[in-house]
Amino acid sequence: MTKKIITITGAAGNIAYSLIFRILSGQIFSKDTKIQLNLLDISESAKILKGVKYEIEDCAFDSLDSIITTDSMEVAFGDSDYILLVGAKPRSKGMQRSDLLLDNANIFKNQGIAINQHCKDTTKIIVVGNPANTNALIVSRHTPKLPSENITSLMRLDQNRAKSIFASKLNVPVPLVSRLVVWGNHSSTQFPDINNVQVDGLNNLDNKYDDSWVINDFIPRVQNRGAEIIDYRGKSSAASAASAVYDHLNCIVNGSEDWESMGILSTNSYEIASEIFYSFPLSVNTENHKIIEDLDISDISHNYLKATERELLHERDIIKDLL
Ligand code: NAD
Ligand code: LMR
Repeated sequence: MTKKIITITGAAGNIAYSLIFRILSGQIFSKDTKIQLNLLDISESAKILKGVKYEIEDCAFDSLDSIITTDSMEVAFGDSDYILLVGAKPRSKGMQRSDLLLDNANIFKNQGIAINQHCKDTTKIIVVGNPANTNALIVSRHTPKLPSENITSLMRLDQNRAKSIFASKLNVPVPLVSRLVVWGNHSSTQFPDINNVQVDGLNNLDNKYDDSWVINDFIPRVQNRGAEIIDYRGKSSAASAASAVYDHLNCIVNGSEDWESMGILSTNSYEIASEIFYSFPLSVNTENHKIIEDLDISDISHNYLKATERELLHERDIIKDLL
């Protein structure tokens, strides 16, 4: 038997309430792997967290080794294999995700410092709390012990949304759609890119949609899907976000045959500024990820890539004192 320690922050919150149960009932790890869950939330949420723990126990999962509930970062991060940084304030109707920056940035600075003190140098971190890319930048600046490749921010929700909307337009099953990636920020400037998309391995799809649908319907729909969910639900996405975290973690653990979108620390590929967390098209294997290089970027695409880069640089400037 092997054991993996997974830390989830914001464990008393909405996303965690789906995420924990998906991970424990899912198939990311082999059958002989048992999971120790370290569930972190603030002390004010201790009672809710206890209820969540009881519910996990009531599921009698085969995959569960043990549960630790805590408000101590030291306890939560120590020896963790995977740290899922979910805990942060969500936005409400009318807000942009970047409006959360000043509220949430200190959480990620303090957690970065604690992670650096207590984690292993193999620990992998997924940043979910918004604005996820800039929070990931903050974490990476405070975790010099970790290779920066170990830190990624969640863009899989955007990729899943884009694939689902695209599949529905073409009236094909979602799993047949591949090489659909999202560039840039997890925000309304992101660029869902169908220039390389394939359906069932084929890319000759020109007569199935036109440019006007892509520019006027598809791209804005994906960019604004988070706000659309908030409009309908009155609060931000939780089950679909949890499902995307599950998919992202699965890619990191098991690799992927498809191209994947994750926020990573830019090192100037595609002439995107260094020192921001930017989502690129990636090939992901069980060891690491690599940017898919040398894609043709049209002038229109280039404008989208630069607009979302500008927004990330602006976010970085707002929190520069925390870096
Ligand atoms: P929520 O308010 O339901 O839960 C957040 C939890 O975090 C609460 O239990 C709160 O007590 C806890 N928390 C706050 N500060 C903490 C700290 N310092 N340490 C540990 N826990 C802390 O929110 P939610 O719906 O679960 O969303 C969480 C975050 O995820 C939000 O920022 C939201 O915007 C973001 N989100 C990101 C994506 C994405 O694709 N990147 C998708 C959906 C939501
Ligand atoms: C989402 O995309 O659903 C999340 O980032 C929540 C939000 O604020 O939109």
